[in-house]
Amino acid sequence: MKIITESRPTGAIEAQALVTYAFEEEPISGRIAEIDQAAGGLLKRLASGGELTGKMLEMTLIHAPAGLKAERLLVVGAGKKEKFNSGELRKLAGAALRYLKTRGVKRIAFLVRETDANAASAEAVTEGLLLADFEADKYKTGKKKSEPIEWAALAGWDGASGADKAIECGRIIAESQNFTRELANEPSNIMTPKVLAERAAEMAREQGLACEILDENRIEELKMGALLSVAQGSVEPPRVIAITYTPVNPAPNSPVLGLVGKAVTFDTGGISIKPAADMDKMKFDMCGGAAMIGVMRALAMLKPSVKVIAIIPATENMPGGKAQKPGDIQIAMSGKSIEVLNTDAEGRLILADGITYARSLGVTHLVDAATLTGAIVVALAGINTGVFGTNQAFTDKLLVSAKAAGEKMWPMPMDDEYRDMVKGTYADIQNISNGKGGGSITGAMFIREFVDDVPWVHLDIAGTAWYDDTKPWMPKGATGVAVRTLIDLAMNFTSAK
Ligand code: BES
Ligand code: ZN
Ligand code: ZN
Repeated sequence: MKIITESRPTGAIEAQALVTYAFEEEPISGRIAEIDQAAGGLLKRLASGGELTGKMLEMTLIHAPAGLKAERLLVVGAGKKEKFNSGELRKLAGAALRYLKTRGVKRIAFLVRETDANAASAEAVTEGLLLADFEADKYKTGKKKSEPIEWAALAGWDGASGADKAIECGRIIAESQNFTRELANEPSNIMTPKVLAERAAEMAREQGLACEILDENRIEELKMGALLSVAQGSVEPPRVIAITYTPVNPAPNSPVLGLVGKAVTFDTGGISIKPAADMDKMKFDMCGGAAMIGVMRALAMLKPSVKVIAIIPATENMPGGKAQKPGDIQIAMSGKSIEVLNTDAEGRLILADGITYARSLGVTHLVDAATLTGAIVVALAGINTGVFGTNQAFTDKLLVSAKAAGEKMWPMPMDDEYRDMVKGTYADIQNISNGKGGGSITGAMFIREFVDDVPWVHLDIAGTAWYDDTKPWMPKGATGVAVRTLIDLAMNFTSAK
């Protein structure tokens, strides 16, 4: 989809559909009122008849609107004005695109409201459109359900808003998030640890990033016992993917951001096997790793001033004849001993070695993303990503980035009292808690054992990495969550702490 800017006055814009949006309290105001005047009061009539209320994502489609060159006018409900932000704008633009796409429209003009004539809005609309145009139909044969959009023209900017640059940034970000979604949507028979590593290496080559793939021999040499314990139940060998972005003139002693992503390409649970119902979803258990690969793709083009290293431990979790068994004791790369009481709590095991490896490469700050616990879905449903952090300043920084990126994230507690719940009986620590409750917190506490005093944030994306149903703004499947937040974090990561 081409995205261009349009500077003609609203009435002169040529497109198959002109899209704009109305707020709940005052659906006919500002630019909508201008369109209404040109259309002889049609919109006012629709509003008084209850067909145009401004309610969030309401679609009012008018064919051959008087006073407009465009073939159609689509007014999307934007909800309450005081709650409206760039996150809502991103969704709304995506919902409009998908609504029009199913009606055969291929050329769209998107008119922002008078209060949104700025670069941040141009970026949000660009992202919303490109994320919505993504379809997970790679393996469907025959005619596809809908044809891709040819172009979208962004209208309503004031001359100084820098919309062209914002569109370019928005495209890099959205296409990187879509790259993550592509990787994550692949079934596990295609997306093995080896293939994930190849795809990451190919991306790194194309983008000029340094990339090193550790194979099973190297992983053994490095004594990554926690990762190996998960991998030993599978015939597919594990990989550790290391991608590095180095800025052109890195200042001496400047911070190094480490991004560690869980990539279990399929999680059967191992010997502590999962129930059959919905087990197919566990191909999504590499969404954290896929997110980090997408982030690195974007950073290669956006060029932040900070060095960033992504570490992605990749493995299957299978119940093969050599699989680890409940009660087994493993020695992690850090030297800590772990009692594996449940082989289904495997994400924290592979993150442990991923984090130790990242630290050996000199990272000063760490963020990990993982589809770690079913418990976070109980706590926050599919709405918010769970955020766990021990360093308040760094955690706050991440939450600011999440807000800017329009990704909902919510802080979770990390009190020292929870630490006792992962203390081991026969080893230093155990991979599940003896007590009841707090499953996502104890997961985070386990990971913390490998972080020590490095400022660190853990993102539990088990609820937000996948849409079980199609949303108006996105098809079902991988969402690419955390990609935009982490890009924003890296781009604004100028000072330490
Ligand atoms: N990949 C799962 C987490 C998960 C479960 C995501 C359900 C989405 C839906 C993870 O490896 C896992 O199985 N975690 C266990 C941990 C438990 C054994 C302490 C869980 O959440 O049940
Ligand atoms: Zn598991
Ligand atoms: Zn898992």
